[in-house]
Amino acid sequence: MIKSTPVIEVTDLCKTYYMPGGMSQSVLKQINFSVSAGEFVAIMGHSGSGKSTLMNILGCLDRPTGGVYKLDGMAVSDKTDSELAHIRGREIGFVFQNFNLLMKRSIADNVSLPLIYQGVSERDRYERAVQMLHKVQLDGYQDRLPTQISGGMQQRVAIARALINNPKIIFADEPTGNLDSITSDEIMNLFTDLNKQGITIVLVTHEDDVADYAKRMIKIDDGKKVYDGPRSKYNGKDAPY
Ligand SMILES: Nc1ncnc2c1ncn2[C@@H]1O[C@H](COP(=O)(O)OP(=O)(O)OP(=O)(O)O)[C@@H](O)[C@H]1O
Ligand SMILES: [Mg+2]
Repeated sequence: MIKSTPVIEVTDLCKTYYMPGGMSQSVLKQINFSVSAGEFVAIMGHSGSGKSTLMNILGCLDRPTGGVYKLDGMAVSDKTDSELAHIRGREIGFVFQNFNLLMKRSIADNVSLPLIYQGVSERDRYERAVQMLHKVQLDGYQDRLPTQISGGMQQRVAIARALINNPKIIFADEPTGNLDSITSDEIMNLFTDLNKQGITIVLVTHEDDVADYAKRMIKIDDGKKVYDGPRSKYNGKDAPY
């Protein structure tokens, strides 16, 4: 059997932030891992350990300062900013803790926003938005404003937006951080369904119950990977990997 190329492959990945005045902070330190198509991975770690920095690099929103990041076998560092924007638009969906919705635009407009950049007509955008809202169990909500629905529903709108380009991967940075535990479970069940449909999911969380939905866990401590393995086998003891 031919082994398939990982969708994500990071080799000795480093990120150093350079501040004015010559100060610098090394935030990611030689991180190595790969993720295969169809995996469901939770990234955990203390506040400030570098999780969002890592996610932003994985999602092509930022670039590493060292090492290599390959997305679908392509080295991201070789790509121009506009090529990266194109890859982001086609392959990746994002979900954030604070939903990042435009509060004065309708739910349909929010969901179909990524299609504007592809020149899709208004009518087709609306139709696609309605289809995506069906996938997240929000039938009939397309003409409301985000302020007229609950936080859990707003996150489902954000997930519908993330899905609109049929991404291969969804990156979610603390997607349940602003939700109560019942609503968090609903959102995590939705991610589980999407994963069963073949979408690779990488999510950051602080919460053990949320991480339990993932099959694999990667733990970061002070910019280093300290655990990488089955979530169910994590016993709280970290070791340098
Ligand atoms: N743009 C930036 N410029 C300089 N330093 C930054 C920048 N972004 C993050 N940092 C620093 O990098 C470190 C890691 O930040 P990051 O946001 O990746 O942590 P995190 O693990 O996501 O934390 P949290 O759980 O609180 O979200 C922190 O010390 C932070 O201050
Ligand atoms: Mg963070």
